[in-house]
Amino acid sequence: MNREQRARAPGKLLLFGEHSAVYGYPAVGVALDRYLTVLHTPGARWSVTLYNGGDTPAREPFPQADRFFAHLTRTIIRCDPAGESNSAHSTKRPVPGHLQVWSDLPIAGGFGSSAALCAALARIFHPGEYNPIADWAIAHELEHFFHGTPSGIDTGLSTLGGAQAFSFFRPGELPEARECRLPSMHLVVGSIPRATDTKSLVTGVRRRMEDSPDTTMRYMEQLGELSRSVTAVADQSPVDVATFASTANAAQEILRELELSTPTLDNLLSGGREAGALGGKLSGAGGGGAFYLVCETEAAVDRVAEAIREALKREQITATALFSMAV
Ligand code: MEV
Repeated sequence: MNREQRARAPGKLLLFGEHSAVYGYPAVGVALDRYLTVLHTPGARWSVTLYNGGDTPAREPFPQADRFFAHLTRTIIRCDPAGESNSAHSTKRPVPGHLQVWSDLPIAGGFGSSAALCAALARIFHPGEYNPIADWAIAHELEHFFHGTPSGIDTGLSTLGGAQAFSFFRPGELPEARECRLPSMHLVVGSIPRATDTKSLVTGVRRRMEDSPDTTMRYMEQLGELSRSVTAVADQSPVDVATFASTANAAQEILRELELSTPTLDNLLSGGREAGALGGKLSGAGGGGAFYLVCETEAAVDRVAEAIREALKREQITATALFSMAV
């Protein structure tokens, strides 16, 4: 593969099941209509340029780029059945080169930018027919670089797209994904800067699990149960919007107890609810980052988005994203 290759993959909005998915409980999410794009230009050495929206390279360098390229090479070889035994000469060894990365998603903002990067790279370096399940497995392996114990739900949404319900059957394996039916609703979706990254937040929950296993496991079970309660697959009817929204409020309460929310996030969510949203919660790893509010009508969307803008002004925070989507 010695020619330029381009691939893009969508970000995700987790609706239910963040953190509890790491412990094998079900989760539900939806792929966003916002993408991360990678262009690979073959060359003698690996290098990478991240762009912030336009054509100006981002100021932050790609974290530990050399280690990432080594991980990428190992992962692609490992995914070639003939590659392991002869890794130095494997035909599936990815050709090095320059990676240019453009993102419509705020980086590390809770919308799965790292999963989308892994999904786009899987698409570029996984030769052969388009096979989203095989790409998911590669993207999942790549995602381990960014946080040691991904559940697979972020890369699942990025490679499979649409709305997906995830169920785990065997520890350490990828979950099963099924297309999920959601109530028809409008979401006001936003993201605020995070003080900490996914890896630290997932580690924080693991520490809690070690310090107070009974309470923490109960919270995980409850988060999983809330996720299961809104899951409708195949010919099942989706729950109604009000039930979906109150389930989001219940999940947010538990995530708050787990110290995954922040006072700012709580204020934005309560401001949105006061303006007419039926419910809402953080989305993704937390600590700031992404959130969503559930609205029944488009008129409510405008009021809620305005309330969020006002609350951001009061909190003197610039959102890294604020948009609405119809589900
Ligand atoms: C991060 O978007 C979601 C987490 O549940 C981690 C994971 O599932 O890998 C916090």
